[in-house]
Amino acid sequence: METNEKRIFIAAITLLLVFFAGLALAYRAYGVRIPGCVTDVRPFDEGKVVQRGEHQFEVQMVSRMWNFEPQEVVLPPGSEVTLYLSSADVVHGMQILGTNVNLMAIPGTVNLATVTFDREGEFPVVCHEYCGAKHQSMAGKFVIREGATLAQAQPAPAAVTEKVGALFDEYLCLSCHTLDGSDEEVAPSLLGLYGKLQTFADGSSAVVDDAYLRDAIVHPEKQVVAGYDPMPEVGEIPEEDVRAMVDAIRQLGQQGAR
Ligand code: CUA
Repeated sequence: METNEKRIFIAAITLLLVFFAGLALAYRAYGVRIPGCVTDVRPFDEGKVVQRGEHQFEVQMVSRMWNFEPQEVVLPPGSEVTLYLSSADVVHGMQILGTNVNLMAIPGTVNLATVTFDREGEFPVVCHEYCGAKHQSMAGKFVIREGATLAQAQPAPAAVTEKVGALFDEYLCLSCHTLDGSDEEVAPSLLGLYGKLQTFADGSSAVVDDAYLRDAIVHPEKQVVAGYDPMPEVGEIPEEDVRAMVDAIRQLGQQGAR
């Protein structure tokens, strides 16, 4: 091999190694992660926040002309957030300032990023892909605040239909539970309850889902939430009433998390 050829060969390999070292450094020292496109999550058109563990939250973020939903996500410091992003209309961008999150929101697909919020503060969310007349005003934010909980995070009004409201009344749910996230002295509020991690008197815990709610309504003595008295037996409740109430609490949970 000619000497010059050899030099170029060595230089090329060295350069590749330098690039590779740069990648490794970005990953290890700066926490840079390549955002992923997930294929096993169906694109969604409603934004919500779900608690998956004590510090684990899942945010399903929808971008559309010209806002993000949820517009404001309030979480406690130390929150580990798995962010799913989709778009309801055109291509948008999404960057959370002060973090490594920088994604594209593409209709029909879901993109994924994870981020941990270690400190208190406000982290603005901006759209960085031109998406129409009000692109520049498309924004949201993450607010990280000590003591924040999902229910108090968003002051969403309770939209319980008249029919379900009558059921809640009939079974005396509202003598102890509120629907607006207020007054949790006697019993947990139904707003924002769904998706929450609940700890029980025996020290075990579970995330509130359909099956849990059904059980809690039909067999209230089975799992008693820590810090509360057992819920009084309500007696026989027709299956369709149970289903209607579970549906309503699920919706209240999603509203509470918005
Ligand atoms: Cu959305 Cu620009």
